[in-house]
Amino acid sequence: MEPLDRDKLPTHLAIIMDGNGRWAQQRMLKRIVGHQRGAETVKMVVEQAHLLGIKYLTLFAFSSENWSRPPIEVRALMTLLKKYIRQETARMMRKNIRYNVIGNRGDLPDDVNRALDDAIVETAGNTGMVLTLALSYGGRQEISQAAARLARDVASGKLSAGDVTVDAFGTYLDTGGLPDPDFLIRTSGEMRISNFLLWQLAYTELYFTEINWPDFTINELRKALADFQARERRFGRTSDQIIKRNDPLNA
Ligand code: FPP
Repeated sequence: MEPLDRDKLPTHLAIIMDGNGRWAQQRMLKRIVGHQRGAETVKMVVEQAHLLGIKYLTLFAFSSENWSRPPIEVRALMTLLKKYIRQETARMMRKNIRYNVIGNRGDLPDDVNRALDDAIVETAGNTGMVLTLALSYGGRQEISQAAARLARDVASGKLSAGDVTVDAFGTYLDTGGLPDPDFLIRTSGEMRISNFLLWQLAYTELYFTEINWPDFTINELRKALADFQARERRFGRTSDQIIKRNDPLNA
């Protein structure tokens, strides 16, 4: 097992779970079988993130662009999501995990929305990890919708244009209230952000692995986290400044 320093874990871990389709196709299986296996990996990652004490886990489960997939795959993914949410809520309660959703919920089928509403209400009082599912989510859509809401508030006098700071804008995003991700993992060898959390990833450490999502194991997760722990996060400062800040004699 990859050793980890519990004091240096990301507060917020975000994941682009890619490669379900290719995993299935390489095995002459239907793509949905890859998604089903991917849902098992989701269970493992949620469990591990909870055990490690990670406070926020955000998973890209369905993008705004995924609606253009064949209808049969979209339907199967929606059914899988509903089943996962219904089946896992009891476990979320035992582990004190709270569900959260970002994205355009209005696009989702009613039965999926009902399952989400039930899960969100049931887990609302949980104080452990926040598990955010990005569903029908697109970063550009989120930013433009936030800008439209903000413009309405300026027009109505609730806010003045001079009050529009980075922090103020952030509160209009779907992720208002969540810290920005510290670490992003993308599986399957693709090196893109694919319209995920465009605003929030400004200073996020990025990690890409060739492993397809259904093959992503506990040790692959620990390997990724160990890689994060070896990085120096400078946020625009110099390396010397960071070393001095971390040195108690210079504090
Ligand atoms: C990307 O793989 C994955 C998705 C579009 C869906 C992700 C869904 C799951 C992991 C399962 C259900 C989710 C939850 C939260 C229970 P892809 O199909 O784009 O793979 P490919 O690039 O190889 O075709």
